[in-house]
Amino acid sequence: MKKCISIFFIFNYLVSFEISDAIGYNGAVASSKKEASNIGIEILQRGGNAIDAAVAVGFALSVVHPSAGNIGGGGFMVIRFSNGEVTSIDFRETAPLQSNRDMFLDDKLEVIQGMSKYSGKACGVPGTVYGLGYAHEKYGTMSWESLLYPSIQLAKYGFSLDYHNFKLLNSPRYSNFLSQDAESKKIFTKNNEPYKLNELFIQSDLAHTLIRIAKYGYNEFYNGITADYIVDCMNRVGGIISYEDLKSYKAIEREPIKINYRNHVIYSMPLPSSGGITLSNILNQIENVNLSEFEVGSAKFIHLLSEVEKRSYADRAEFLGDSDFINVPLQKLISKEYADDRFSTISMKKAIPSKKIGHGNIDFWNESEETTHFSIVDKYGNAVSLTTTVNGWFGNGITVDNAGFLLNNEMDDFSIKPGYPNLYGLVGNEANSIQPNKRMLSSMTPTIVENENNELIYVLGTPGGSTIITSVAQILINLIDFNMPLKEAVSRKRFHHQWLPDVIQVEKNYFSPEVISRLEKYGHKVSERSSIGEANCIYIDGTGLKYSTSDSRRGGVSKAY
Ligand code: DON
Repeated sequence: MKKCISIFFIFNYLVSFEISDAIGYNGAVASSKKEASNIGIEILQRGGNAIDAAVAVGFALSVVHPSAGNIGGGGFMVIRFSNGEVTSIDFRETAPLQSNRDMFLDDKLEVIQGMSKYSGKACGVPGTVYGLGYAHEKYGTMSWESLLYPSIQLAKYGFSLDYHNFKLLNSPRYSNFLSQDAESKKIFTKNNEPYKLNELFIQSDLAHTLIRIAKYGYNEFYNGITADYIVDCMNRVGGIISYEDLKSYKAIEREPIKINYRNHVIYSMPLPSSGGITLSNILNQIENVNLSEFEVGSAKFIHLLSEVEKRSYADRAEFLGDSDFINVPLQKLISKEYADDRFSTISMKKAIPSKKIGHGNIDFWNESEETTHFSIVDKYGNAVSLTTTVNGWFGNGITVDNAGFLLNNEMDDFSIKPGYPNLYGLVGNEANSIQPNKRMLSSMTPTIVENENNELIYVLGTPGGSTIITSVAQILINLIDFNMPLKEAVSRKRFHHQWLPDVIQVEKNYFSPEVISRLEKYGHKVSERSSIGEANCIYIDGTGLKYSTSDSRRGGVSKAY
């Protein structure tokens, strides 16, 4: 009997991992929220392309996912067109013109606690509205107003609070945080009573902002009434974003990072995201090993990948920053030879302490050379992978006066002082120091994968701060090396090493005591943590079927038709 029960569970486990959340021949959307995914599918069903749907989903998330979806933040998207061309759009925030290298330090050059995260000066110039507007103007097919209309309805007439929003808004941590700002308090907290599950949540100021953007175009945000409100807000909270900052903001189209990995071609985000370069370095190192000889949750595999990650993140800290401002040895960092050099210092017997692992030797500098992710594929064969953020949950906690949207705290992603850890414990150096107009280094890794015949096969990405890159790497390894179905590749427990601190972070209840003790014997420190990331991804099989898969970690919702 006991045997029957366990076989039953194993069977169910395997079957449920085989099947994605939604499957269809035409189009697919995987995002963090039901309303956003529904809107995306509706746009696709009405004949819109993946870019149209991405614009509509992006705005919808700014309403139904206020902690991470946004119009007050920034992000990145990778687009693959049906003809096989791939591009990326960088709509990362910029440092305001009045910012300077030491703006978060006191007279003694010590860090002023919390200022880069929770003050009026913590926000960069928002890029999301420009990014969505630029993508629509260049690659969209439907009218701008029709793409914003569903979000306006959700803001004006309300949406029902799902469990994730209900838990976040009621948590003492975030309700206290949001109560510190008068505008946020008005919109995101209730006097002396908790929000109810499924309660209708109306955002009138945000509805008006979206109506203005719909009517006057995306530039309204940068030179219309919304810009006035942002500057008013800056005056109220001691911020420094000016009219000039807003007027000069531009999204930038960039050539994606291309990675060849075991017969697959992977496209991911270039600088100012470290995602593509660091992912490339991790995979290039791992390619030295035949992983079919490894077990996915074994100490041997975790040791190996952690050692690889340490080396890649040490390089990230030293070399990476906004390449429009600094010289980055890009070709070297993404080359197989450089990865082989880095890999050659790994011992399969023991962990090398992070303090003994510096960045690699690159002396040829002048070469020639809390977030949400959604994935979309349309019936024409276009795909969009988009990650967007206000950085921490609810950004800096400050809502723009009369405009109803939260501002980011992305300035903390700069290296505010060499070696000083940011919100995610990441350290950086001069390459990522603050300069007016510069973009802070990101880890966001929206990614698109082709198979050996150069056909679209996966659209991937996740939030998770510093863990984004290692999560995308693990999902790719699960898919390509361990041949897992997408649902299993996404659901598998994750671990993460980022060089400093010198510790393997691991999702709760992943490692058995035996695996932990083996890792300790290698010389690793291991620490358990809450869940890592929320990957919303799509797989396209050889027959054209699209498998849309959300990550159960935060309750995302996938749709397909
Ligand atoms: O750009 C970055 O790398 C961070 N600001 C992302 C923050 C994030 O993913 C928070 N999500 N959980």
